[in-house]
Amino acid sequence: HDAMRCNDKITKYSKLQLAASAFCNEAQLQLVMRITQVPLALARRACHSALAQVPVTIRARNALIRQPDSQIITLASQPRSGAFRPRARSAHPSRHQPRPSLSRTLATTPTRSSPVPLLSPMMAPDPSSLSNFTEIRVTHSDFELDVNLDKKIIEGYVQIDAVAEVDSPSHLLLDTRDLTIHRVELHSPLQSPQGQGGPIPLKFQVDEPHKVLGSALRLELPADLVGPLTRGSRLSLGVRFTTSPSSSAVQFLDPAQTAGGRQPYLFTQCQAIHARSLVPCQDSPGAKMSYSAVVRVPQPLTALMSAVPDEPADGLPHLADVEPQYPTSLFSFHQKVPIAPYLLALAVGELSSATLGPRTRVWSEPSMVEAGAYEFADTNKFLEAGEAIAGEYVWGRYDLLLLPPSFPYGGMENPCLTFVTPTLLAGDRSLTNVVAHEIAHSWTGNLVTNANWEHFWLNEGFTVFLERKILGHLHGPATFQFHAAQGAAKLALEVERLGADNPYTRLVPDLSGGVDPDDVFSSIPYEKGFYFLYYLQELVGGADVFDPFLAAYIAAHRHKTLTSADFRKFFEDYFKEVPAAQTVDWDTWFFSPGMPPVTNTYDTSLAQQAYDLAMKWHTCDVMGIGSDGPAGASPADVDGWSSEQMVAFLDKLRQFRAPQPMHKTVTKRLAELYGIYDSNNAEIRYAFFKLAIPAEDDQALPAAALMLRNQGRMKFLRPLYRALHRSKAGRQLAEDTFAEVGVSYHPIARKMVAADLGIKDE
Ligand code: BES
Ligand code: ZN
Repeated sequence: HDAMRCNDKITKYSKLQLAASAFCNEAQLQLVMRITQVPLALARRACHSALAQVPVTIRARNALIRQPDSQIITLASQPRSGAFRPRARSAHPSRHQPRPSLSRTLATTPTRSSPVPLLSPMMAPDPSSLSNFTEIRVTHSDFELDVNLDKKIIEGYVQIDAVAEVDSPSHLLLDTRDLTIHRVELHSPLQSPQGQGGPIPLKFQVDEPHKVLGSALRLELPADLVGPLTRGSRLSLGVRFTTSPSSSAVQFLDPAQTAGGRQPYLFTQCQAIHARSLVPCQDSPGAKMSYSAVVRVPQPLTALMSAVPDEPADGLPHLADVEPQYPTSLFSFHQKVPIAPYLLALAVGELSSATLGPRTRVWSEPSMVEAGAYEFADTNKFLEAGEAIAGEYVWGRYDLLLLPPSFPYGGMENPCLTFVTPTLLAGDRSLTNVVAHEIAHSWTGNLVTNANWEHFWLNEGFTVFLERKILGHLHGPATFQFHAAQGAAKLALEVERLGADNPYTRLVPDLSGGVDPDDVFSSIPYEKGFYFLYYLQELVGGADVFDPFLAAYIAAHRHKTLTSADFRKFFEDYFKEVPAAQTVDWDTWFFSPGMPPVTNTYDTSLAQQAYDLAMKWHTCDVMGIGSDGPAGASPADVDGWSSEQMVAFLDKLRQFRAPQPMHKTVTKRLAELYGIYDSNNAEIRYAFFKLAIPAEDDQALPAAALMLRNQGRMKFLRPLYRALHRSKAGRQLAEDTFAEVGVSYHPIARKMVAADLGIKDE
């Protein structure tokens, strides 16, 4: 109160500092300061310097309705026990925020009951971003992009609108990686008279690169140019940049790598932290922004983005220095819903499309459109089921882009335009659960978003849950249970592969210190996340009560980001009257490695036939010395089976055979009887290869190598390479295959496979 009454800035500062250190040294737990008429930045600085020795979280928001100038600052020192371990302050000099504290919502703070803040709600910092989005936040980006497929670069200009989240921010930090920055200029607000003639140049610096996180682009905001910025002030600036041919976000394909063989192709993949190598941005989910773009491409190519197409623009006014010497076309887009930057996406190629529904078409190279239209005919049904479960679909269009075979994922939920691998083209619509999954991300992930990549399970675990709810909605509860049981088996195998004490098997891993989210990627957030949600559902009374909870969770968090602790708080509030809901061992679920602390049971009626057949094949060759297969085995064993049952059979058999591989006479017999090599279904072939490679099946080895040559989906590449590399007969084949075709893989896939094989990626 003394500080509040004082008019001298320096005295005010030191009084605050004194109060902060006294309070914290004594109580060591929590300090809540209600400060009137003290500039937030001042209080923040005072508290930081006073508490420099103690890891603290500082949060601020406009908290009192009747006194709109008031601020509440909560300083919570982090509990030092249990899973909420103390964490060192940021190793990155450019990050000014302390580490995020999962403990923050566990502490009793008055901020929860506060009204909606004027600006963004408290934002958890992000260990995977060098940007300062908690101080100044990008709200909109307007891109001009010139795609140069000969040089494998993109020339770009971005006009960035941002809002100050604190008083007097001195600079703006953007994420970049392998970008050349040519100039930065201020569009508004302009204080200086020089500004009258247009934007004025701003000083900038590209920091030394961090191996994983890239280089912060540091833009000074001198007060004499921008004037005194206070919380809520807006500014707009422009950055002229060029990408590098080695951008980790972009794969450029030569004509020979496309189906048509005539035109080059380009596609991006920005999740998790690759957007920064495409455009300068605040590459954190916490910095959601809307965007617009004009893209220039050589004729006759088409550009598509994760946005809604607009009327074509006339030109690229800020790229006057770039003059292509060939005929070009312009494509315009807008994405009015704020998105996390990892959802930026661009594809350029010889593309055409077919209509699938009122808001849906499938795009691909012309020769694949028909196959895509057949395979994905159920897309509209998935969308409608998603809406019935999760609420309004806010994105306008839902299109699909069927990519060339090097696309490294099964699907990527780019808003308005899901990207999918052509390995889904089984010819019988049997692999379209991936489309249901990507549609589910329209709510969980794209609308309700993980605050940073430590909370990735909030994106993927929820999305698998919603995906299975969509499938259950369309095909009945037994289908939901079948997929749940399959997921549990996958979880067990993944925990075994990684090791039950591996910290990456935690639902909420620790990514501080610049851990690469790509290195942590596994099935854990998907399947442990799903497993947790199913456990919670059963705990509180089943789907009848949990489905409305899910819809309420989405409604409450749409357009926002959240942490695992935020989810816990929401769940606990929602189910506060349900005694069982108070018994959840949150810390163990979130932070303990290995299998979950509780075992779920699923109805395995659909899977049972598959499991029984697996047992027969297992027992016909228990010792691994060879046999002709189970007595009486015939193709009729699998008559009428779905491809998923077939995969369940092969996976179960592999689980039985983990300690002792089968003999190759048995795997060959199995393949022959059940027509494995005639199957168009990539999942069936893949599941079989995982069984047959340890058996050193000489028919399977070259067939598996062929699968490594003709597609680049990491889900298939990585385990097959690893299995080959482990086997005696396959080791050399794995190395030779990678040496030959590795260059044609997507940069991320190449890097991950190289790491799996112990090869240094050049
Ligand atoms: N968002 C993911 C793909 C992803 C994750 C890309 C992390 C980059 C970093 C996508 O929704 C996904 O999960 N795809 C799965 C589909 C499956 C779970 C049905 C895939 O690619 O296999
Ligand atoms: Zn997903």
